[in-house]
Amino acid sequence: MSVTVRVPAKVNVQLAVGGARPDGFHDLANVFLAVGLYDEVTVTPADSLRVTCEGPDASRVPLDRTNLAARAVEKLAARYGRRADVHLHITKDIPVAGGMAGGSADGAGALLACDALWGTGASRETLLGICAELGSDVPFSLVGGAALGTGRGEKLRVLEVGGTFHWVFAVADGGLPTPAVYGEFDRLKEAVTVPEPVASAAVLSALAAGDVPALAGALSNDLQAAALSLRPSLASTLAVGTGAGALASIVSGSGPTTAFLVRDAESAAKVADALAASGTCRAARVAAGPVQGAVVV
Ligand code: C5P
Repeated sequence: MSVTVRVPAKVNVQLAVGGARPDGFHDLANVFLAVGLYDEVTVTPADSLRVTCEGPDASRVPLDRTNLAARAVEKLAARYGRRADVHLHITKDIPVAGGMAGGSADGAGALLACDALWGTGASRETLLGICAELGSDVPFSLVGGAALGTGRGEKLRVLEVGGTFHWVFAVADGGLPTPAVYGEFDRLKEAVTVPEPVASAAVLSALAAGDVPALAGALSNDLQAAALSLRPSLASTLAVGTGAGALASIVSGSGPTTAFLVRDAESAAKVADALAASGTCRAARVAAGPVQGAVVV
């Protein structure tokens, strides 16, 4: 008997970052949108905890206890006084270390899958609490849709969305470690006072109205300058998307994936073709959102 959970990637339609806190984290106003690129996590009873992974980037996924999915299984097992004896298989389609919460998706997926496999009866609140311990973006991977994350991103307020937003994602060669991008943000802001992060009224109302041009005009990412500083070549990728008709071009989260908001599916195909032909990225993927969060399939 095994259980499979499907979990979406995210893009940040706003990522407002405050100054570094004493604990090293940053307070955020983080508006997440779940988009239709998915990882699948399958758990099967086994003699001991074992992780395997398949997909184009599988070789870059750690298979030891640093894997968020493995840590999720161990945390749930400890909570319910049982052994973490499962084979965890990840079918990976979300870019690895790409700023699209792929690792967080696997953590949320493994948690939900083991919860179902073991029949723990854990409440949604308990699961969300474990997600928050695993990482700042993990609660959103469970919830999906659209949400405003505050604190370090883990305190969620679900947002209503009035339509579908079409995106193209340019997958870069290699990843960018999130801590390195926050570190670069701190370095770039060393001499300035960073304001408190606040949710943008323009972003929230564009989401609520399903207004694509309005959202395009309101997208913002405070980590973009840091990601570009570490990976200057991303500027060319952003320019290709804009030149091909994207309404807005932005770095996704901590990067290096770049995200292009487009008018509709037809425009998405055109922008994706231009990106793929440009040689400025490894692959171009099309996806729309919002989509639901982690779900047993
Ligand atoms: O929470 P998570 O483990 O995903 O965070 C990874 C790293 O990203 C943290 O160790 C920290 O360096 C950085 N981070 C941050 N502020 C946040 C979220 C993440 O500085 N709100």
